[in-house]
Amino acid sequence: MELFELEQTGVRVKWSTVDQWARPGTVLSDAERVRADRFHFEQDRRRWVAARSALRHMLGDYTGDDPAALVFDVSEFGKPSIHGRSDVHFSLTHSHELIGLAMSRTGPVGLDCERIEPKIDVVSLSDEICSTAECDLIRSQGSHAAVFFQVWTRKEAVLKASGLGLSYAPKDLTVLPLDDGVPVCIEIRGHGTWRVCSIEAPAGYAAACCLGSQASRCWHGEDSSRLR
Ligand SMILES: CC(C)(COP(=O)(O)OP(=O)(O)OC[C@H]1O[C@@H](n2cnc3c(N)ncnc32)[C@H](O)[C@@H]1OP(=O)(O)O)[C@@H](O)C(=O)NCCC(=O)NCCS
Repeated sequence: MELFELEQTGVRVKWSTVDQWARPGTVLSDAERVRADRFHFEQDRRRWVAARSALRHMLGDYTGDDPAALVFDVSEFGKPSIHGRSDVHFSLTHSHELIGLAMSRTGPVGLDCERIEPKIDVVSLSDEICSTAECDLIRSQGSHAAVFFQVWTRKEAVLKASGLGLSYAPKDLTVLPLDDGVPVCIEIRGHGTWRVCSIEAPAGYAAACCLGSQASRCWHGEDSSRLR
């Protein structure tokens, strides 16, 4: 899925790097500064502060609100939202030096990126988090890391769009087939219908985006004008 096709759905995806947001986190709230100070490793702190600054600045641009004045609510499973702005949906992801943010006014969105780690033990990780069909596919493709991360990012994009996070077992989701540019429709009993697709990501990373079924209809060319 190309990003320009995704924009047909009304979703905007922005990629940036930690270095681009490495200036002191002047827009962070007091609570965010406290959370930042709890990181044990400086590198983790730096990455988290950068992602939080990126989130505030980009959402500020998107909504026209002051980035420092945004107040976030957090759902029981950890999904953040902007207090008093139920019209704005977003999903933040960060992996190593990459930060991604998806923003939408057309419904919930989930974005996930992961750096492709060529040396990870794909077989045991997929046994832990993948459905039987996904494990079979990954093995049939030579257990390549790129295939595994395509599956992983799709799962996390669904878990983020739905807000379920890891309260829902990733093994119970099947995000196949992996055909390029073709969103997969997933029904989660009691938690709606979702469409997830792999999207273009910076080199060395895998990424996926998930939308609620209404907004994602225009991935198939249906009625995109209504959603802009
Ligand atoms: C949300 C989650 C599913 C993904 O996290 P992740 O891929 O590790 O990290 P990402 O950077 O992509 O996303 C983190 C952001 O998602 C958002 N988020 C957290 N919980 C969320 C939820 N339930 N729904 C939607 N968004 C959520 C937050 O903005 C968070 O940012 P923060 O960490 O700076 O506060 C998380 O619950 C998690 O713990 N993942 C663990 C990784 C794992 O084992 N995955 C198994 C493979 S499916």
